[in-house]
Amino acid sequence: MRRILATALVATSLAACGQQQTGGTAETGQQASSAPAAPEMSDAEKQALLASYPAPYNTADLANGEAKFGLCRSCHTITPGGANMTGPNLHGVFGRKAAQVANYKYSDALKNSGIVWDASHLDEWLAKPMTYLPGTKMSFAGLKDAKDRTDLIAFLMVETGHKPQ
Ligand code: HEC
Repeated sequence: MRRILATALVATSLAACGQQQTGGTAETGQQASSAPAAPEMSDAEKQALLASYPAPYNTADLANGEAKFGLCRSCHTITPGGANMTGPNLHGVFGRKAAQVANYKYSDALKNSGIVWDASHLDEWLAKPMTYLPGTKMSFAGLKDAKDRTDLIAFLMVETGHKPQ
Protein backbone atom coordinates (compact mmCIF):
# COMPACT_ATOMS: atom_id res chain seq x y z
CA MET A 1 0.00 0.00 0.00
CA ARG A 2 2.78 2.41 1.00
CA ARG A 3 4.67 1.65 -2.15
CA ILE A 4 1.68 2.36 -4.40
CA LEU A 5 1.20 5.70 -2.72
CA ALA A 6 4.83 6.63 -3.18
CA THR A 7 4.69 5.78 -6.88
CA ALA A 8 1.60 7.90 -7.30
CA LEU A 9 3.34 10.80 -5.60
CA VAL A 10 6.38 10.54 -7.83
CA ALA A 11 4.16 10.46 -10.90
CA THR A 12 2.28 13.56 -9.74
CA SER A 13 5.40 15.57 -9.06
CA LEU A 14 6.91 14.56 -12.38
CA ALA A 15 3.79 15.73 -14.14
CA ALA A 16 3.91 19.04 -12.29
CA CYS A 17 7.52 19.41 -13.25
CA GLY A 18 6.75 18.88 -16.92
CA GLN A 19 3.99 21.43 -16.78
CA GLN A 20 6.29 24.04 -15.34
CA GLN A 21 8.75 23.59 -18.16
CA THR A 22 6.28 23.93 -20.99
CA GLY A 23 4.48 26.73 -19.16
CA GLY A 24 7.74 28.63 -19.13
CA THR A 25 7.31 30.26 -15.72
CA ALA A 26 10.77 31.77 -15.97
CA GLU A 27 9.69 33.57 -19.07
CA THR A 28 6.60 35.44 -18.05
CA GLY A 29 7.17 39.05 -18.80
CA GLN A 30 8.80 38.32 -22.12
CA GLN A 31 7.06 38.82 -25.41
CA ALA A 32 5.37 35.94 -27.10
CA SER A 33 8.31 35.95 -29.48
CA SER A 34 10.15 33.31 -27.51
CA ALA A 35 7.17 31.31 -26.29
CA PRO A 36 6.73 28.41 -28.72
CA ALA A 37 9.14 25.56 -28.18
CA ALA A 38 10.82 24.41 -31.36
CA PRO A 39 10.43 20.65 -30.84
CA GLU A 40 6.72 21.07 -31.53
CA MET A 41 7.38 22.76 -34.88
CA SER A 42 7.36 20.69 -38.04
CA ASP A 43 10.08 21.18 -40.64
CA ALA A 44 7.58 23.03 -42.84
CA GLU A 45 6.76 25.40 -39.95
CA LYS A 46 10.45 25.99 -39.34
CA GLN A 47 10.98 26.81 -43.01
CA ALA A 48 8.01 29.21 -42.97
CA LEU A 49 9.40 30.96 -39.90
CA LEU A 50 12.81 31.17 -41.55
CA ALA A 51 11.31 32.70 -44.69
CA SER A 52 9.70 35.45 -42.58
CA TYR A 53 13.07 36.79 -41.38
CA PRO A 54 14.83 39.72 -43.01
CA ALA A 55 17.69 38.96 -45.43
CA PRO A 56 20.15 37.33 -45.22
CA TYR A 57 18.53 35.12 -42.58
CA ASN A 58 15.50 34.22 -44.71
CA THR A 59 17.69 32.17 -47.04
CA ALA A 60 19.99 30.68 -44.39
CA ASP A 61 20.90 27.01 -44.34
CA LEU A 62 19.36 25.60 -41.15
CA ALA A 63 21.19 22.28 -41.44
CA ASN A 64 24.52 24.09 -41.52
CA GLY A 65 23.36 26.29 -38.62
CA GLU A 66 22.52 23.22 -36.60
CA ALA A 67 25.91 21.72 -37.39
CA LYS A 68 27.63 24.94 -36.27
CA PHE A 69 25.63 24.92 -33.03
CA GLY A 70 27.70 21.81 -32.31
CA LEU A 71 30.44 24.34 -31.39
CA CYS A 72 28.18 25.81 -28.68
CA ARG A 73 26.54 22.67 -27.27
CA SER A 74 29.35 21.83 -24.87
CA CYS A 75 28.56 25.06 -22.99
CA HIS A 76 24.94 25.99 -23.87
CA THR A 77 21.45 24.46 -23.91
CA ILE A 78 18.78 26.10 -26.06
CA THR A 79 15.54 24.38 -24.97
CA PRO A 80 13.01 26.20 -22.74
CA GLY A 81 14.14 25.85 -19.13
CA GLY A 82 17.32 24.05 -20.23
CA ALA A 83 20.21 23.85 -17.77
CA ASN A 84 22.91 26.43 -17.39
CA MET A 85 26.24 24.78 -18.03
CA THR A 86 29.54 26.60 -18.51
CA GLY A 87 27.40 29.16 -20.32
CA PRO A 88 23.76 30.17 -19.67
CA ASN A 89 20.68 28.61 -21.30
CA LEU A 90 20.04 30.50 -24.56
CA HIS A 91 16.29 30.07 -24.94
CA GLY A 92 14.58 33.43 -25.37
CA VAL A 93 17.82 35.32 -25.85
CA PHE A 94 16.56 37.31 -28.89
CA GLY A 95 15.16 40.68 -27.94
CA ARG A 96 16.41 40.27 -24.37
CA LYS A 97 19.02 42.30 -22.54
CA ALA A 98 22.32 40.50 -22.02
CA ALA A 99 22.94 38.64 -18.76
CA GLN A 100 19.32 38.01 -17.69
CA VAL A 101 19.24 34.25 -17.03
CA ALA A 102 18.42 33.65 -13.36
CA ASN A 103 20.90 31.63 -11.32
CA TYR A 104 23.70 32.14 -13.79
CA LYS A 105 26.79 34.04 -12.73
CA TYR A 106 27.76 36.33 -15.58
CA SER A 107 30.93 38.38 -15.91
CA ASP A 108 30.68 42.06 -14.96
CA ALA A 109 31.63 42.83 -18.56
CA LEU A 110 28.48 41.19 -19.92
CA LYS A 111 26.26 42.46 -17.07
CA ASN A 112 27.35 46.04 -17.75
CA SER A 113 27.42 45.76 -21.53
CA GLY A 114 23.99 47.26 -22.20
CA ILE A 115 23.61 44.83 -25.12
CA VAL A 116 20.12 43.81 -26.21
CA TRP A 117 20.59 40.64 -28.23
CA ASP A 118 19.49 40.78 -31.83
CA ALA A 119 20.90 39.16 -34.96
CA SER A 120 23.42 41.90 -35.67
CA HIS A 121 24.82 42.02 -32.12
CA LEU A 122 25.06 38.23 -32.11
CA ASP A 123 26.87 38.33 -35.43
CA GLU A 124 29.57 40.62 -34.03
CA TRP A 125 29.74 38.72 -30.73
CA LEU A 126 30.11 35.31 -32.37
CA ALA A 127 32.79 36.52 -34.77
CA LYS A 128 35.15 37.16 -31.84
CA PRO A 129 33.54 37.31 -28.39
CA MET A 130 36.64 38.25 -26.44
CA THR A 131 37.46 41.16 -28.73
CA TYR A 132 33.86 42.31 -29.00
CA LEU A 133 33.48 42.33 -25.23
CA PRO A 134 36.80 42.41 -23.36
CA GLY A 135 36.40 40.77 -19.96
CA THR A 136 33.73 38.27 -21.02
CA LYS A 137 34.16 34.79 -19.66
CA MET A 138 32.90 33.15 -22.84
CA SER A 139 36.14 31.56 -23.93
CA PHE A 140 35.20 30.80 -27.50
CA ALA A 141 37.66 31.77 -30.24
CA GLY A 142 34.95 32.86 -32.67
CA LEU A 143 33.28 31.75 -35.84
CA LYS A 144 35.16 33.43 -38.68
CA ASP A 145 32.98 32.58 -41.66
CA ALA A 146 30.16 35.13 -42.07
CA LYS A 147 27.88 32.62 -43.81
CA ASP A 148 28.35 30.13 -40.96
CA ARG A 149 27.35 32.87 -38.49
CA THR A 150 24.27 33.74 -40.53
CA ASP A 151 23.22 30.08 -40.67
CA LEU A 152 23.84 29.61 -36.96
CA ILE A 153 21.91 32.75 -35.97
CA ALA A 154 18.99 31.70 -38.20
CA PHE A 155 19.03 28.27 -36.57
CA LEU A 156 18.99 29.87 -33.09
CA MET A 157 16.08 32.14 -34.04
CA VAL A 158 14.03 29.27 -35.47
CA GLU A 159 14.78 26.90 -32.58
CA THR A 160 13.71 29.48 -30.03
CA GLY A 161 10.57 30.31 -32.02
CA HIS A 162 11.70 33.91 -32.49
CA LYS A 163 9.28 35.97 -34.59
CA PRO A 164 10.58 38.89 -36.62
CA GLN A 165 9.71 42.29 -35.12
C1 HEC B 1 33.63 27.22 -23.71
C2 HEC B 1 32.24 27.47 -23.41
C3 HEC B 1 31.42 28.27 -24.39
C4 HEC B 1 31.25 28.04 -25.75
C5 HEC B 1 31.91 26.98 -26.62
C6 HEC B 1 30.27 29.01 -26.19
N1 HEC B 1 29.87 29.80 -25.15
FE1 HEC B 1 28.48 31.28 -25.21
N2 HEC B 1 28.85 31.74 -23.26
C7 HEC B 1 29.76 31.07 -22.46
C8 HEC B 1 29.88 31.77 -21.20
C9 HEC B 1 30.79 31.37 -20.05
C10 HEC B 1 29.00 32.88 -21.28
C11 HEC B 1 28.80 33.98 -20.23
C12 HEC B 1 29.72 35.12 -20.64
C13 HEC B 1 29.93 36.21 -19.59
O1 HEC B 1 29.26 36.21 -18.53
O2 HEC B 1 30.78 37.07 -19.86
C14 HEC B 1 28.36 32.82 -22.59
C15 HEC B 1 27.42 33.74 -23.05
C16 HEC B 1 26.77 33.65 -24.27
C17 HEC B 1 25.72 34.52 -24.70
C18 HEC B 1 25.10 35.66 -23.89
C19 HEC B 1 23.89 35.11 -23.14
C20 HEC B 1 23.14 36.10 -22.27
O3 HEC B 1 22.29 35.62 -21.49
O4 HEC B 1 23.39 37.31 -22.34
C21 HEC B 1 25.34 34.13 -25.95
C22 HEC B 1 24.27 34.72 -26.81
C23 HEC B 1 26.19 33.01 -26.29
N3 HEC B 1 27.04 32.74 -25.25
C24 HEC B 1 26.11 32.31 -27.49
C25 HEC B 1 27.00 31.29 -27.85
C26 HEC B 1 26.97 30.62 -29.14
C27 HEC B 1 25.91 30.84 -30.21
C28 HEC B 1 28.03 29.75 -29.15
C29 HEC B 1 28.47 28.85 -30.27
C30 HEC B 1 28.98 29.48 -31.46
C31 HEC B 1 28.69 29.86 -27.87
N4 HEC B 1 28.04 30.80 -27.12
C32 HEC B 1 29.80 29.11 -27.48
C33 HEC B 1 30.45 29.93 -22.77
C34 HEC B 1 30.55 29.38 -24.04
